Formats: sequence, C-alpha cells, structure tokens
Amino acid sequence: MKNIIVANWKMNQDFATISSWINDFFYKICDDKNFPEIAICPPYLYLDMLSKVINKNNKNSLISLGSQDISFSQSGAYTGDISAKMLKDFSCKYAIIGHSERRQFHCETNDILEKKLKMTIAEDIVPIFCIGESLKDRQEKTYVDFLKSQIKSVIPKDIYLESLVLAYEPIWSIGTDTTPKISAIKEVADLVCSELLNYKNIKNFKIIYGGSVKSSNSKEILSIKNINGLLVGSASLNYKEFFKIIS
Ligand code: PGA
Repeated sequence: MKNIIVANWKMNQDFATISSWINDFFYKICDDKNFPEIAICPPYLYLDMLSKVINKNNKNSLISLGSQDISFSQSGAYTGDISAKMLKDFSCKYAIIGHSERRQFHCETNDILEKKLKMTIAEDIVPIFCIGESLKDRQEKTYVDFLKSQIKSVIPKDIYLESLVLAYEPIWSIGTDTTPKISAIKEVADLVCSELLNYKNIKNFKIIYGGSVKSSNSKEILSIKNINGLLVGSASLNYKEFFKIIS
C-alpha cells in the first residue's frame, strides 16, 4: 500500500508564498514514482491556483488536492460554506473532516461530522477523518474509549465507503513540538485498525498520524505497522522541510 503524506496549510500562506512554494516544490519533485502519494490542502481561495498547477505537472498522479473542510449540506443558505460539488469542480480528491481546530473553533459535533462524511461520499471525495484525544483524556487513561467513540459516532455501521483516510491527531501534540512515544502511536494505530476492520462496508482505509511531524521524526513514525502516512501542518509550509518528509 502506498503511503500518503498530507500537507495541511491551515490558514497560512498567501499568493506570493504559494507561488514560490509551487515553483520550488514542483521543480524538485519530477514525478518520481517512488515518492508517496502527496495531498495538498490549501485554504479554499487557493484551490484553483493549485489545481491548475497540479493538472499541468502531475503526469503520474502523485499529487492530489484536498480541502480543509466541507459543508454538511449540498447547497443553500449556508453563508461561508463550500459544498462537496464545488470542491469537485476544482478536482479535490480529499477533504479533511473533523480536524480538532474545526471541532474547537467552529463547534463541530460528531453529528455534523457524520453529515459531512456523507457529503464526501455523494461526490466521490475521499474523507480524511481526524480523531484525537485531549491531554486530559491521555493522562486519565480514558483515551481508548474516547477514540473509539469518535469513530463510532461519526461513521455509521451501514455506510459504504470506497476509501477512507483516518488521521490520528492527538490534540496535545498539534503545533506543540511534542509527539507521543512511538509505542503510543502504535497502540492507537492497532486499535483504530481493529475498529475499522469491523466495518465490512469500508473497502480500503489508511491510518495516518498527525501532530508535530517534522523531517526528524517522520521516518520513525512511518515505520510503525498500520501507519500508512502523515498529516503535516506547520512543517508543510516550508517546501524544503516538506520535501525532506516525503523523501
Ligand atoms: P502540526 O499540525 O503538524 O503543525 O502539529 C498538524 C495538524 O494539525 O494537522
């Protein structure tokens, strides 16, 4: 199974920095088939710019585009939202759902996330569904039940999913320069894997890790059994650092 490395730019970058990131990155990457799959998730406004560059330079379909969120509705009076169909117009292959920053700052509940998941299916977009426990859950050792309940409340048992990317992102690790021990990531990857194997209607899934990933720790994290990729935040903003991670 090919690994996937996802760049989540969050609300960073602008026209000038993206232009130079693209120039440098695409110059280096040369469509080498040995690279993992790469998905870039820019702020919505830059999807068009990136989709044009990707369509032009991506002979082996190594690089795809993803959104950082998706609306729970098909269309209508939802000011500020972007629908699955709109994302598809810009060749988005992936959509991040349930990032802890959306849960925290936009009050996204598991119910809303279930609707969002269904929207991705309707337009054939692969969901990158994020789960992750707080430091309190980790310290009080309630994280196993918490993570299981995040999965169960968002993914209905009868749903048919051709592909799913499940991102384990402990909240206490995001943007903090602190990563869990390798054994702790492995424990969760095994747990998530056995949970997802119970879903007979999920045809393919990948489990990826996110939270303070850098070129200095990416190799070790990728060596964990059942980890098939990474979700990279701040380290993906610097094309040199991101290139080291995908190499
Ligand atoms: P980080 O963010 O790599 O900056 O910790 C990861 C994420 O939030 O997806």
